[in-house]
Amino acid sequence: MAKVTIDGVEMEVPDGTTILNAARSVGGDIVPPAMCYYSKLEGSGGKCRTCLVKVSQGSTNDPRPMPKLVPSCRTTVMDGMVVENITSPEVLEARKGVVEFLLINHPLDCPICDQAGECDLQNLGYKHGAAATRYEEERRTYKKIDIGDKIKLHMDRCILCYRCTYVADQVADGDRCHGIINRGDHAEISTYIEKAIDSDFSGNMIDVCPVGALTDKTARFGSRVWFTKPMDAHRDCENPKCSGKVVVWEKGEEILRVTGRKDAYHEVEEFICNTCRFEKKKVSDWVIEGPRHINNKSVISANHYEHLKDIKEDIEKYQKQVAANINKA
Ligand code: SF4
Ligand code: FES
Repeated sequence: MAKVTIDGVEMEVPDGTTILNAARSVGGDIVPPAMCYYSKLEGSGGKCRTCLVKVSQGSTNDPRPMPKLVPSCRTTVMDGMVVENITSPEVLEARKGVVEFLLINHPLDCPICDQAGECDLQNLGYKHGAAATRYEEERRTYKKIDIGDKIKLHMDRCILCYRCTYVADQVADGDRCHGIINRGDHAEISTYIEKAIDSDFSGNMIDVCPVGALTDKTARFGSRVWFTKPMDAHRDCENPKCSGKVVVWEKGEEILRVTGRKDAYHEVEEFICNTCRFEKKKVSDWVIEGPRHINNKSVISANHYEHLKDIKEDIEKYQKQVAANINKA
């Protein structure tokens, strides 16, 4: 086991744990943002640099600081390591720079993007970005591409996190036909001559995409996400590899889209098959379990009736307390 301190919070984690996962084991503000790391996808991380942290003490045996900021998703802890995340002005400054780089080519089309309201880049931009861009050159633009008949790739928005290529490799069955071609400014996601991905699990690329580059064609432009009602639901899926546990996004009596269930770090708990995602859009297809708790400080929770329930309970509690105090007096 290794003792590590992140932003003044001490914790003990198994040897070999990354700084990011050590921080996640405690949770809260000490957790660095992550745009490319995905705990369920082997090899992910190390691409986006949003998770940079400062190691101000390497270990008990060698207390020298690390000479430059390190990606917390790829750096493992050492016993006695001291890490600074949001307590380091240097880290915050670097993160601002990373956001600026990520936004160099990313269009600011949030008002019409399907990912708005649940976009990690949007959240990151608000938290760590600058109000204006210094970029004056022309942005890269691409034609929209169909990846199979259910997924649309909007390459302009892609931040090259590689997550979808890992899904193609590790989650979707069949021959790999999805990856990144070219390098540097020319790098782009491709299905090699736009070959459709037939795998039953290809839809998971949409869920892992941190921005709106991969969207569900069966739900595109259906509604702003904050006007929908996320509900946990399940069904007995005929695909043995699919748990059938999903979130259905309802508007009135209609199910507009179906996604995997995401945790506090926006990672799906279990990957789901394309039949559940794209073809089961009737309420009668699902056993509805109840409202989904959206943990992220997301605009989606702004509409939450759950919060109203909490407020109602608080008011009742205070009313009882006031009544008890009056009776006592
Ligand atoms: S399309 Fe999305 S998931 Fe794929 S590399 Fe680009 S940003 Fe990442
Ligand atoms: S999350 Fe660590 S580099 Fe992207």
